[in-house]
Amino acid sequence: MNNAEQIKYAQEKFGELLTEQFARIERMKAEKDFLDYDKLDNIVIGVVGGDGIGPAITAQAHRILEFLLSDEVAKGRITFKVIDGCTIEHRAEVGKALPDDVVEELKKCHVILKGPTTTPRAGDPWPNIESANVAMRKELDLFANVRPVKVPEQGIDWTFYRENTEGAYAVGSKGVHVNDDLAIDFTVTTQEGSERIARAAFEYAKKTGKTRVTAVTKANVVKTTDGKFLRICQEVAKDYPGIELDDWYIDIMTAKLVDPKRRTQFQVLVLPNLYGDILTDEAAEFQGGVGTAGSANIGKRYAMFEAIHGSAPRMVQEGRDKYADPCSIIRAAVMLLEHIGYADKAKKLERALDICMYEEKKLVITGRDTGATSEAFADYVMDTIQAL
Ligand code: IPM
Ligand code: MG
Repeated sequence: MNNAEQIKYAQEKFGELLTEQFARIERMKAEKDFLDYDKLDNIVIGVVGGDGIGPAITAQAHRILEFLLSDEVAKGRITFKVIDGCTIEHRAEVGKALPDDVVEELKKCHVILKGPTTTPRAGDPWPNIESANVAMRKELDLFANVRPVKVPEQGIDWTFYRENTEGAYAVGSKGVHVNDDLAIDFTVTTQEGSERIARAAFEYAKKTGKTRVTAVTKANVVKTTDGKFLRICQEVAKDYPGIELDDWYIDIMTAKLVDPKRRTQFQVLVLPNLYGDILTDEAAEFQGGVGTAGSANIGKRYAMFEAIHGSAPRMVQEGRDKYADPCSIIRAAVMLLEHIGYADKAKKLERALDICMYEEKKLVITGRDTGATSEAFADYVMDTIQAL
């Protein structure tokens, strides 16, 4: 192809992306209200084990949820639905980030508890399909990735509202390889998408009595898309008198998170997808690493709760999956309970987990046979709940 043909090819690809985004914007506009769980007679909780250590740790979080919700299950208010098939083997076989049968099952649920899934990367034996996480967030339009990080003794109490469907991820697997010299990716910011994440962050701040929301962008350089995101945050802020909006760039924000004086001022942070991805890993490190943090992916119709670490295939190869740390997915279960309206049970589970992980520490997880199994740890958490 000569240059003119390459440009035409790239323009056509770009046109296709715009068409997809227009359609997505219409879908966003059509979905106005959040599902009200209080009005549901029956809430279906999907359980997706995922890959690697996923099934082992998810089974433990599932067991704890069954234990806490046993009355609700008996009454028929809650139903658990185990969804198989979201494995890398099946995804590779059908060549899709989310096989159709899995999507169909997911859509029969209201909320989903999900173990980590393997994301193929260059050099893997797997075809280079899109991450199942990213695909699920898009398919179910889970636009708010909520990640809390707390270290009370250091005055750290942050809640991240990471935009979860746009930015660098919106067309992350559909960049254009124009020719051997030139590859182009795209980042997407929409009015609707930015407004709903900004509003979700401010609503959360209002509900929890927080006084500050911090927008994190790189609007000084990425002027068009980040500039729009920031402007919309500023617009939305006007509807929330009493809550201050401040504005930081991602580079200095990564530095300020390690500044013990400055970092205590941050409360709720709202940020585009990729910055949120990076900053939440850094933030979780203060609390003991990504293995200790839970993550909620909230949309208007569906919500998914997951561990924020990976699937650790090496642990499975070495036969150590039964020693994997279930704490992150149990944290996700806390967020799930809270989200569907069982705040008391969520508090109990959170309290028990804090006791087991940080205070009493009768059992310790090391990831090897030098420590407790995930199953024994889950029993310990349930015993602790009973003793509360
Ligand atoms: C996360 C993960 C995912 C992401 C990966 C697995 C695609 O890092 O949940 O933060 O980038 O969002
Ligand atoms: Mg990440």
